[in-house]
Amino acid sequence: MTNIAEQVLVVTGGTSGIGEAFARSFGAEGASVVIAGRNGEKAQRIASDIVKAGGKAIGVTCDVTQQSECNALIAATLAEYGRLDTVFANHGAAGEIGPLVRWSDEDVQQTVNVNLLGTLYLARAAHAALKDGGGRFIVTGSAAGRQNMLGNGMYGISKAAVSHLVRQFALEWRRSNIAVNEILPGPVRTPMAGFPTLDANPSSQFLDYIEKMGDWLKDPSDVVPIARFIATMPVNGPTGQSYNLGGRLAGN
Ligand SMILES: NC(=O)c1ccc[n+]([C@@H]2O[C@H](COP(=O)([O-])OP(=O)(O)OC[C@H]3O[C@@H](n4cnc5c(N)ncnc54)[C@H](OP(=O)(O)O)[C@@H]3O)[C@@H](O)[C@H]2O)c1
Repeated sequence: MTNIAEQVLVVTGGTSGIGEAFARSFGAEGASVVIAGRNGEKAQRIASDIVKAGGKAIGVTCDVTQQSECNALIAATLAEYGRLDTVFANHGAAGEIGPLVRWSDEDVQQTVNVNLLGTLYLARAAHAALKDGGGRFIVTGSAAGRQNMLGNGMYGISKAAVSHLVRQFALEWRRSNIAVNEILPGPVRTPMAGFPTLDANPSSQFLDYIEKMGDWLKDPSDVVPIARFIATMPVNGPTGQSYNLGGRLAGN
């Protein structure tokens, strides 16, 4: 299924920021959308907005750090729509900013559990349903997994591991026509990046980060076109690839 409007899409981290933008945009385009997050109320609220506008959507409560909840998310998708075409594994946790030796055990574990293990659990849960007719597993990674940045600590390390996981599943699943790819969005105005609202001013720390990366600050809707592009590639098309939306060539 290369047409978005015909696809059944699961979006984790669909309750906020980039994932919410994916869900609303693809829902408006006619896709059958499953919005997932720990905040089930918010997931249902977004789903109900999509339905009111004439689309198809459900909201499901899901903590991706629990294999059983990832399994239940895919089961709910199949129960509602009978099929699964594309998963956006977009959930994420940033942890704290600071030297790695000072990161609390709790933040280290949460960052690894959400970013890395949550993606593994979701992939395991979705595999059989995607294998049925082929499909796509699209992960929101981070440039912090490519380039070491002071302060990013376990976040960058977990996202580097996520990139490796993307390529591993791409290799293991290529003969089943499940394309596994990654989006590197660069800095985006979301709560995770310190923007409680779209019009909130960036912190000086964040502006320093962008300056060092030679990057550009995006709105969540700016990430939608690249997600759309990957989700409309044939399932036997590109796999194991990273699509980088961040980065501007530094210079004069
Ligand atoms: N914003 C940026 O500058 C930036 C840059 C590079 C990469 N990214 C990546 O982009 C993705 C989306 O983040 P965002 O920027 O849109 O941040 P966000 O608005 O803060 O959203 C984070 C999302 O992750 C979900 N989440 C967190 N822990 C979860 C868990 N245990 N189980 C299920 N869902 C969980 C949250 O939903 P609930 O609270 O409902 O669980 C929320 O929907 C993340 O993977 C992030 O690492 C962001």
